[in-house]
Amino acid sequence: MSRAPSSNGSYDLITLGLVAVDVLIRLPQTIEHDGKQFVEDLVIQGGAPVGSAVSAVGRLGFRCATVAKLGDNTISDIAREQFRRSKVDLGLIVNDPSAQPAIALVQIDPKTAARTVFIQMDHYGYVRPDEVPAHEISKARVLLVDSYDLDATEAALRAAARGPCRAVLDFESGDPDRMKELLAFSDDAILPLATAETLSGEGEPAEVLRVLSGITSARLLVTDGANGSWALDDGQILHQPALPVEAIDTTGCGDAYHAGYVVGLLLGVGLRRRMEIGAWLASIVATRVGGRQALPWRGELEALIRDDLSDGLIQLVKEHRL
Ligand SMILES: Nc1ncnc2c1ncn2[C@@H]1O[C@H](COP(=O)(O)OP(=O)(O)OP(=O)(O)O)[C@@H](O)[C@H]1O
Ligand SMILES: [Mg+2]
Repeated sequence: MSRAPSSNGSYDLITLGLVAVDVLIRLPQTIEHDGKQFVEDLVIQGGAPVGSAVSAVGRLGFRCATVAKLGDNTISDIAREQFRRSKVDLGLIVNDPSAQPAIALVQIDPKTAARTVFIQMDHYGYVRPDEVPAHEISKARVLLVDSYDLDATEAALRAAARGPCRAVLDFESGDPDRMKELLAFSDDAILPLATAETLSGEGEPAEVLRVLSGITSARLLVTDGANGSWALDDGQILHQPALPVEAIDTTGCGDAYHAGYVVGLLLGVGLRRRMEIGAWLASIVATRVGGRQALPWRGELEALIRDDLSDGLIQLVKEHRL
């Protein structure tokens, strides 16, 4: 059962962004071309940045919903079912019979974990700005958006600004000028280093953060895979190392990082702890193929506690029975 809004009618987290169904395969060590091979790691699951992030937060027991346009077709059914399974409420889904999510075919190199992605977006269901549920968003505690449809994203950010809702961004690609404009509407912008470099014209995380702080008062963070993440805090640069794991597939690490950060916001903890929760969830996701297979459920994190976590985070997990 998905979780409907709380008694005061609001969600902990609403997300808006790309919806995709991923078909992932970790290629075998040797490929028999023009042949048939049995493989171990071949999965179909929901994907896309905010889709996986909202699933992560839903599994950890928070009231979540996602805004998306889905239709009357098999791929939409898979996307819906995947959200439902992660306890994401479907109440904000816009129905349009012909709309379909993106389909992503992801090939993972077994030696390097490098990913090759093919995406098909015919019949994609873009959410129009007037279909964005402004009232629900303004009442929610957190909004998480991406940059795949900046008109809908802008409508959602404007709605968040009308209420207490904290707006978090995950911008991967899109028109740079428009992305810069929208940075100013957000409260927390967590950007992969490549996007942050494009927007700032700088190459080093510290410089990138300083330049971007000139165009937004948002809390700024950048992530850079196994090199970890950085944040600007009162003029100081904080670094959160990635937590070492034997990485099988890093698809969805960024999404899980955002989810962990949002969980930290919902639990009311400070920036350092939010970064640590993000890095921890991301490291868990890296241990299995795809962005959702390894996402923990509420009650499962305690068994995943590791020696290099801070005492504060261990206490938080125990206190909230995460
Ligand atoms: N190989 C890894 N091992 C452990 N942690 C990782 C690894 N790769 C990424 N992470 C964690 O995930 C965080 C986000 O990763 P990354 O910068 O790759 O995000 P991204 O580019 O948005 O990824 P995606 O959108 O594909 O999920 C990193 O800051 C780090 O904490
Ligand atoms: Mg990402």
